[in-house]
Amino acid sequence: MLAKHAYLLLASTASAFSAPTSSNASDNAGCRYMPGDSGWPSTQTWTSLNQTVGGRLIATVPLAAPCHDSTTPKDGLHEDWPTYDAEKCSSLQSRWLEPELHDADPASIMAPYFANQSCDPFQPRSGQCVIGTYSQYTINVTSSSDVAAGLKFAEDHNVRLVIHNTGHDFAGKSSGAGSLSLWTHNLKNIEFFDWSDEYYTGKAIKMGAGVQGFEANAAAYDEGLQIVSGECPTVGLAGGYTQGGGHSALSSRYGMAADQALEYEVVVASGETLTASRHENSDLYWALSGGGGGTYGVVLSLTSKAHPDVPTSGANLTFTSEGLDMDVYYDLISTFTSSLPASADAGVMSVFYFTSESFMIAPLTGPDVTADQLREFLAPLTDGLEAKNVTYTSNFEDFGSYVEFYEAMFAPIPVGVTLYGGAFIPRDVSVANADGLISAFRDVNEMGAQVVGVGLNASLATAGFHDNSVNSVNAGWRDAIIAAAITVPWSFKAPWQDMLDSQNLLTESVMPRLKQILPDGGHAYMNEGDFQDPDWKRVFYGDNYERLEQIKDKYDPHHLFYALTAVGSDYWTVHSDGRLCT
Ligand SMILES: Cc1cc2nc3c(=O)[nH]c(=O)nc-3n(C[C@H](O)[C@H](O)[C@H](O)COP(=O)(O)OP(=O)(O)OC[C@H]3O[C@@H](n4cnc5c(N)ncnc54)[C@H](O)[C@@H]3O)c2cc1C
Ligand SMILES: *[C@@H]1O[C@H](CO)[C@@H](O)[C@H](O)[C@H]1NC(C)=O
Ligand SMILES: *[C@@H]1O[C@H](CO)[C@@H](O)[C@H](O)[C@H]1NC(C)=O
Ligand SMILES: *[C@@H]1O[C@H](CO)[C@@H](O)[C@H](O)[C@H]1NC(C)=O
Ligand SMILES: *[C@@H]1O[C@H](CO)[C@@H](O)[C@H](O)[C@H]1NC(C)=O
Ligand SMILES: *[C@@H]1O[C@H](CO)[C@@H](O)[C@H](O)[C@H]1NC(C)=O
Ligand SMILES: *[C@@H]1O[C@H](CO)[C@@H](O)[C@H](O)[C@H]1NC(C)=O
Ligand SMILES: *[C@@H]1O[C@H](CO)[C@@H](O)[C@H](O)[C@H]1NC(C)=O
Repeated sequence: MLAKHAYLLLASTASAFSAPTSSNASDNAGCRYMPGDSGWPSTQTWTSLNQTVGGRLIATVPLAAPCHDSTTPKDGLHEDWPTYDAEKCSSLQSRWLEPELHDADPASIMAPYFANQSCDPFQPRSGQCVIGTYSQYTINVTSSSDVAAGLKFAEDHNVRLVIHNTGHDFAGKSSGAGSLSLWTHNLKNIEFFDWSDEYYTGKAIKMGAGVQGFEANAAAYDEGLQIVSGECPTVGLAGGYTQGGGHSALSSRYGMAADQALEYEVVVASGETLTASRHENSDLYWALSGGGGGTYGVVLSLTSKAHPDVPTSGANLTFTSEGLDMDVYYDLISTFTSSLPASADAGVMSVFYFTSESFMIAPLTGPDVTADQLREFLAPLTDGLEAKNVTYTSNFEDFGSYVEFYEAMFAPIPVGVTLYGGAFIPRDVSVANADGLISAFRDVNEMGAQVVGVGLNASLATAGFHDNSVNSVNAGWRDAIIAAAITVPWSFKAPWQDMLDSQNLLTESVMPRLKQILPDGGHAYMNEGDFQDPDWKRVFYGDNYERLEQIKDKYDPHHLFYALTAVGSDYWTVHSDGRLCT
């Protein structure tokens, strides 16, 4: 699908990894050590770290090792890797797109671009299986002292550090060549209590950093509550999701995930555990609530608002462009996007997908809104479809609770299938320039990209949050009627260079086309945007970047934390061999 647009590509340009370096540590002043360097910690040094963390240090075994004739690193720390096993390999291949396979593994990540074919189950048996861009060692974190020990070790031994929760990040921010990883996945405690201060009085949920959406939703349901979590049930709540802003099917009703945050327990680079809230270390609270994961400290727990559960309705609808004039097809889509302000202002959140072949609403979420009301919100579209005799399927349904709705109407989301760009579509643009918007979307589709829309009003419930006085959520969310992810397909079978070209197509052609209609080039959600965006500081962080960087410098003065496009990340560069250097 992309090949015909190859002419749009410039010769391989920007990439997440730049200029090569030697692997001799003494030639690499200003770099983190890599395995094989004389400065890399010895077996004995790693073993002593393992003792400090109570035996919870894990030496990475690439998840797809059974698909290859791989060689176990011979450093006395790695147990023998599994050998090639056709049956195990085929089971791994069949499950590779399921997030659950990866989130249960200490080192695996879901973004194939950043896994860099280090140990790829779809490559031939004789192909490489190395640790590569996965972290080398992982501390299976159970306490603040495990985290403090890991931070001290990385600092003392000049080893790259990463924080890893579920591995969902599209920019590979929870992995890194030659790194020690702090894995927060097993911090699973959940507690409910009453919260009361001058800003919020009501129920609160305290979640260990490893709690995932489905776990928090189920626990809230049992208490007669509902919480703001992602559309994907396996995304973690306290990590990159809430810290990056976090959109939810409940965001028109309650705002962003970061708007729900009341308090964090966080271990900062010095090893000290701090409480961050609007009352204590409020600068750190502000940065953690929307300023991005993986860079200010290691969050151990998050306390968030929990809301009374309400009956929730859902709607889905699909049609295709088959046999339709393309002007008619895009007019119908425009009719739908023009209906979003009315539904969003009533608390409805809309998830929709379209390419030049098909359009799908999957689904509309109506908390305390009835299915009949959803029918009315979609009437402009359904009337249009009927007027044009377009065949479509739709379902409208009322559920007693949010979780019942969620389980019935959100399909599992496969991972490793797309590369991402993205942009917020301001409500003003969608109203004043509806034609310009649909024509940009049409061009985006014609370049081979899909539009994944999240239609919402993220300011309905949080009007006082707009000026970033409360948190650092990208202001683009507050004016947006659509948060659009712009995706191109990933193929595990395609030549590697084609995949790099696909990301470049997003950076060099697709996103610039969409940006043409956005004031000042627009803003985007850091978790669903183009990691190659040359203007990423402004696009992902808006006017907050400078203040976020000051807070980063205060809590992490030695740049221990690094993640691609995170605040302060330009202190480091990732070289083409994965080495992290200043
Ligand atoms: C299938 C899929 C569906 C998605 N759906 C949604 C959605 O509905 N809404 C939405 O807003 N986003 C969604 N996302 C994007 C998601 O929010 C990001 O991928 C986010 O980074 C995931 O956070 P994580 O902690 O689970 O993942 P990880 O990849 O483990 O971590 C992401 C980042 O957070 C940092 N981090 C993780 N844990 C901690 C911690 N304890 N302390 C400090 N930093 C930490 C990591 O270092 C990394 O920088 C989706 C992604 C996927 C793949
Ligand atoms: C590393 O570089 C130094 C200085 O150039 C040299 O003396 C040394 O032999 C090199 N070591 C290795 C392992 O290549
Ligand atoms: C750490 O210690 C535990 C318990 O002794 C052991 O099972 C594990 O393999 C060790 N990890 C490493 C990396 O050596
Ligand atoms: C990590 O620690 C948890 C809690 O102690 C334990 O249940 C789990 O098996 C450990 N995981 C790995 C991969 O060692
Ligand atoms: C739709 O179908 C009806 C009945 O078959 C026909 O009368 C009408 O002209 C069609 N309308 C369009 C827009 O094709
Ligand atoms: C639409 O929603 C119904 C429930 O109302 C569900 O059974 C069906 O699978 C959904 N269809 C799609 C395409 O998601
Ligand atoms: C959100 O809703 C409020 C109240 O209806 C409205 O004033 C505001 O313009 C809406 N914002 C967006 C971005 O939709
Ligand atoms: C990615 O893989 C290629 C090919 O094996 C390798 O040359 C390169 O160093 C790797 N990149 C990183 C960042 O590790």
